[in-house]
Amino acid sequence: MIQTVELRNITKRFPGVLANDRVNLQVRAGEILALLGENGAGKSTLMKILYGMYHPTEGEILVNGQVVQFKSPADALAQGIGMIHQHFQLVPGFTVVENVALGLKSSRGPLTDLDAVSKRVRELGAQYGLHVDPNALVWQLAVGQQQRVEIIKALYRDASLLILDEPTAVLTPQEVQEFFGILRRLRDAGNALIFISHKLYEVISISDRVTALRDGRVVGEVETKATTQQELARMMVGRQVVTRWEKSDMPPSDAVLQIKQLAVSNDKGLGAVNHLSLDVRAGEILGIAGVSGNGQRELAEAIAGMRRVNAGTVQIAGKDVTNCSPEQVIAASVSFIPEERMVMGVVREFSVAENAILETHNRPPLSKRTFFDFKQIDAHVTKLVREYDVKTPSLETPVKSLSGGNIQKLILARELARDPRVLIAAQPTRGVDIGATEYIHKRLIDQRAAGTAILLISEDLEEVRALSDRIAVMYEGEIVGIVPPDTSVEELGLMMAGAQKNL
Ligand SMILES: Nc1ncnc2c1ncn2[C@@H]1O[C@H](COP(=O)(O)OP(=O)(O)O)[C@@H](O)[C@H]1O
Ligand SMILES: [Mg+2]
Repeated sequence: MIQTVELRNITKRFPGVLANDRVNLQVRAGEILALLGENGAGKSTLMKILYGMYHPTEGEILVNGQVVQFKSPADALAQGIGMIHQHFQLVPGFTVVENVALGLKSSRGPLTDLDAVSKRVRELGAQYGLHVDPNALVWQLAVGQQQRVEIIKALYRDASLLILDEPTAVLTPQEVQEFFGILRRLRDAGNALIFISHKLYEVISISDRVTALRDGRVVGEVETKATTQQELARMMVGRQVVTRWEKSDMPPSDAVLQIKQLAVSNDKGLGAVNHLSLDVRAGEILGIAGVSGNGQRELAEAIAGMRRVNAGTVQIAGKDVTNCSPEQVIAASVSFIPEERMVMGVVREFSVAENAILETHNRPPLSKRTFFDFKQIDAHVTKLVREYDVKTPSLETPVKSLSGGNIQKLILARELARDPRVLIAAQPTRGVDIGATEYIHKRLIDQRAAGTAILLISEDLEEVRALSDRIAVMYEGEIVGIVPPDTSVEELGLMMAGAQKNL
């Protein structure tokens, strides 16, 4: 059994990158340590070192006070260290039991007793709430259940330190609550857990202690009960971050975006939006909460003129734009921040400047009849890039070499520069770091104050709750309820799973 694991002065260099810089970290039996940090902070690298997948450039690992050296994950496992990766490593065509047995020493011969494995899988399931059918084929399981299989696999091999790399990224809010229950049981049974996340509220609700990484270095170590989301955000980003927004009271006003009985199909031709009706008023942020794949994307694309409407209508300020072209929808003063930003939001090979004027280039003042006014364009783009804090080496840099957060800021800059009457923002901060997220949120709040009707589609419930005036929950192509923004995450989660409310 693992009592303590310690990383001492771990440094890891990749060519040109210092991924971990003299990191110290300890974890004990019976605790959940959160490893917090933004994308690229070095969390996965550090844990891959602890799991024997990478060798540290410098530093050492101690298990129960003894220095150990891992040549491979098998060595780490032999010491009781197991890791559940961001991307699962199961064989889809095998059953749960076969996956658990795979690679066990006893399974090499013809004598693996799958019945015995199956029995143990059930026992572990009952002990920790890791319920899953041992005979189910892995491809038939939901993602959350596949994750349980990975945990069972590690426990079966007697791992008593479990490293979980961003395990909640693939779960719905409901599943996250259940999953946290499992983690608590594992901890209370005396296991040690390292929980990796960049989500502050998750870290606060599940961990006992937090170690924060930034640019490969430890920038903070705190007891969870002695800290706050604000303090953790400051550690992670290195400066004060706003997570709660003051919104001005907006007087009730007319609906600018009106959707009536809208029906839209998905790419497979199946119904995705099912006779949905919704109004968004000027100066309002209407949040759409829902597990992705419940028709949100099709709804956004239909409004933006990028997907055919089968029935129903879309009106902008009283003007019917149903089945209009994207150009016509833009002309009706609608801006769109698409979910698939690399595919629909930008042209990857085009420069920052070219992308910044996409769709706007054929209108004055940037063009004089058929000639572009390059001086004007340059001044306009320079202003946008500065105002929206887009970090780019130059205006000629191809967009594909910018980070996700900077691409998103560029799209936001372009779309808001039109001062639209309606803005559709789909997953505007997905994959974006916390600093850029704060910035994008501020811009959305400003645009609301400027009177734009904003439809905010997001899977991030904290985001939806922080920004929205009203929250509409979408499930299987329908709105199952419209609730105030202070509705609890638990309640929203239930509705997102299909429970009806307040309709
Ligand atoms: N195999 C690798 N080769 C080169 N660079 C890598 C490799 N793995 C990670 N990095 C770099 O190391 C840094 C830390 O990455 P990572 O540990 O994945 O961060 P996190 O898990 O916190 O998002 C990043 O700059 C990343 O690009
Ligand atoms: Mg990672």
